[in-house]
Parts: sequence; structure tokens; C-alpha cells
Amino acid sequence: LALAMLVLAGCDSSKILPSDALNVLDPKGTAGEKSLDLIYFSIAIMLVVFAIVMAIFIYVLVKFRKREGVTLDRSKYKDHNTVLEIIWTVLPIAALVALAIPTVKYTFDLAEVPKGDDVLVVEVVGHQYWWEFKYPKQGFKTAQELHIPVGKKVHFKITGTDVLHAFWVPALGGKMDVIPGRVNELTLDAKKAGLYHGKCAELCGASHALMDFKVVAEEQADFDKWLAKMSAPPAPVVTAKEKQGEEIFNSSCIKCHAGMDPKRQGPDLTKFGNRQSIAGVLKYDEKNLKAWLKDPKSIKPGTKMEKFDFLNDQELDALTQYLMNRK
Ligand code: CUA
Repeated sequence: LALAMLVLAGCDSSKILPSDALNVLDPKGTAGEKSLDLIYFSIAIMLVVFAIVMAIFIYVLVKFRKREGVTLDRSKYKDHNTVLEIIWTVLPIAALVALAIPTVKYTFDLAEVPKGDDVLVVEVVGHQYWWEFKYPKQGFKTAQELHIPVGKKVHFKITGTDVLHAFWVPALGGKMDVIPGRVNELTLDAKKAGLYHGKCAELCGASHALMDFKVVAEEQADFDKWLAKMSAPPAPVVTAKEKQGEEIFNSSCIKCHAGMDPKRQGPDLTKFGNRQSIAGVLKYDEKNLKAWLKDPKSIKPGTKMEKFDFLNDQELDALTQYLMNRK
């Protein structure tokens, strides 16, 4: 059974995601590499302990097994052995100290706040059930998709608005608690360009498992292009259909999506057309966007987003068009 579980645990997720998108054992950043070092080091210590305990266990099983004609002389039993007791007290302490030294060192290394113009600062806000990413220096915010430049330190200031969440990018490192009213800090970097998967790692409600985000790590030039795209004014509304979509947006969606209703804060959709996913879990296309608008709770149970099932097909079409052109 254990072997079967081991084999099943090796299931390949690369058909739905790039193979390194969610892999703690194949880190793509400094923090992830340090975590993996600690994982290997603690497994090595555990294997040594396991081997010693098993060796003693097997020795005792064989040596003192019940044999025909041999009765154990209980009068020879000892109730005390100072040397042995010292050994089995000192050895575990030594193992724990050996584990603690690199753990404490790495913890302090990773908590260091990087300084300089070269550091990208991103403010992360966890919401039920989506992620908001603010780029304070660049002056814009986005949701569900975090872009970072390869080879640069990214300093995250992490907070939340409702319940506890946890910010985790398995391939890069983490995780860090999201606590409303408190700002936690975390520094990550990506050594290789790629698309990495981010997860919420703290049970936060019905759609905890769907509270995903993407990390797009890209070369500096591509990252600069993305920054320029995000900082530029939104594309003008041209066609009559888009104008109709804009009217629907301004009469319904804007209440939550421009932060006018503090209890129902939705993601900023100014540059929605640059996204790669819908609600962080669906592929970005027209069909999925319509499905989301019609019945978001069927896709993400517990989401604060309301149904837009009162729109007719033509209106839904116009709204979809308007949103997808927000580039
Ligand atoms: Cu947010 Cu789990």
C-alpha cells in the first residue's frame, strides 16, 4: 500500500501546468533552494535515526526471540544503566541542535529586508478568494497575476482584509501568513523565467482550494514592457458594442470593482484584457468569462461576486467585449 501511494504521488501535473510550476523539490529561487536544503538535511538526520532504531530493533528481535528449551533468566535484568541513559539523552539533543543551527540561520537570512533601487516592492493583499498585487512605486494594481523580473529581489508586504490566508509560491519559496491588520514581509526571487503557480496555504473558506494565482517571472526587458503596458492609459472604447458594455460596467460592476463598496471589494479590472486567467482558475477566453459572469458561485463557491444572469445574450456579449478590450 505504501509503495502504491508513493507511485501515485508521482502523478505528473505537467499536462495542466508547466512541470516546474508547483514543485518544492525543484526550486527556482533562493528562498526555495534554502527550504529544499533544510528538507534534505532533516531527511538525512531522520534516516540516520531510523537506521539506528531499526538496527537495535532487529538485533533485539533476533537475539532475544523465544527459543525451544531456553528460558530467560529474569533475575539478570537490569533496571538502570547510566551510560545508556546519557547516550539517548545527548544524541537527540545533538540532532535537534544540528537541525536548529541552519534553520535559524536561514530564517534570519530570509527575513533580511533588501535595500537599494534594484529591489522591486510588491504589496500583496489576500481576499476571499483572490489576490491583489499593488506596485506602489509604479502606481498601479492588478489581481491574480503577479509579474516579477528574473534575478531581482522582490520584497513582498503581505496583508489581508477578511480572514487568514497564506501566500505561497512553492517553486520560489514561502509561505507567509496573511493576517488582516498586520503587514508580514517576505523576499523572493526567481532565477529562471517561467510561469509559477501560487496557492493560498491557509484554510480560509469554501473556495480555499481555488484561491490560486500565477507568478510570471520574465526577463527584465519583458517585465519592463509589461510595466509600460500596465502603466499606460487604458485602450479607448471604440465600437458601439463596447460602449454598451461600458455602460453596463459603469452601472453595475463598478460598485465593487472600483472599490466604492468597502464590504464588497473586487479586483481592479482596468487592465483585465492583459490577464492570462479568469478568477485565477479558468483559462482566459470569452466562453469562460461569460460562464463566470453568469454564475460565479458555481465556479468559486463563496465568492462575493454576484450573478450577472439578468443580462441577455447581447448585453453579456457587450460586457465581455468591453472587459476583454481593457488592455
Ligand atoms: Cu485563502 Cu485559503
